[in-house]
Amino acid sequence: MSIHSKPVEKKVTVNSVKKMKGVEKIVMITAYDALFASIFEKEAEMILVGDSLNMSFMGRSDTLSATLEQMIYHTQAVCNGAKLPLIVTDMPFGSCNTPDEALNSAIRVYKETSAEAVKIEGGKEKKEIISYLCDNGIAVVGHIGLMPQFVRAEGGYRVRGKSEEDINTLIEDAKALESAGVFTLIIEGVSNEAAKRVTESVSIPTIGIGAGDATDGQVLVWSDMLGFFDKFKPKFVKEYIDGADIVKRAVMRYRDEVKNGIFPDEEHSYG
Ligand code: KIV
Repeated sequence: MSIHSKPVEKKVTVNSVKKMKGVEKIVMITAYDALFASIFEKEAEMILVGDSLNMSFMGRSDTLSATLEQMIYHTQAVCNGAKLPLIVTDMPFGSCNTPDEALNSAIRVYKETSAEAVKIEGGKEKKEIISYLCDNGIAVVGHIGLMPQFVRAEGGYRVRGKSEEDINTLIEDAKALESAGVFTLIIEGVSNEAAKRVTESVSIPTIGIGAGDATDGQVLVWSDMLGFFDKFKPKFVKEYIDGADIVKRAVMRYRDEVKNGIFPDEEHSYG
């Protein structure tokens, strides 16, 4: 049974997100455009303009070819649609390889959109880059565990945190990123035990995706949870509606009505 929760009513900030750890679960969802962002506005404390848009929106087979220009364009659309949630822009593959490159990319996001934070995939090897961004006034969300931007290098998507050794690596990554200054950490595709231990080892909120229920919040990709993306379905995705079927049926009705001269009728004409 679920109890209807209070909608988001006030602007969510970096500070309000940090204060939610251990108090209230954080709801995050992806969005790529103003229309869906406005539908999600009161239901999610955080909206991620994820580079997953390269797969579900652009139809590519992975996230690697997403560009900074695309991320900025979609972030502008999301910012136009939703004012209350804290908006995070995913830094695409190849946009953050050195501290200066990362800062220039993040400054573009800040100047050209009203996103409040950027997200960077990577563990302790990203520490220097992230702390340079934080020192220069950029709010950063970390992303560890299964990292889609590493799919080609690793030869596939690999669930992490199944051995004690790997759990310790994830904890080291999380602590390094916390000390570099990230205010929230996404943990993707890890065992429940790994997510629990990482969450307990840091004082910043963790947000899980395919990481069980012990994290401080959850994130899902909108087109997965609404049943629009059917190329593959990871085990952790819960489909709340079969969006593709609902939309397809509506468009089939429209087609039939046009073909049979039923639409437009008097009610939908200027006369
Ligand atoms: O790109 C994205 O949507 C993401 C989420 C899967 C966390 O990084």
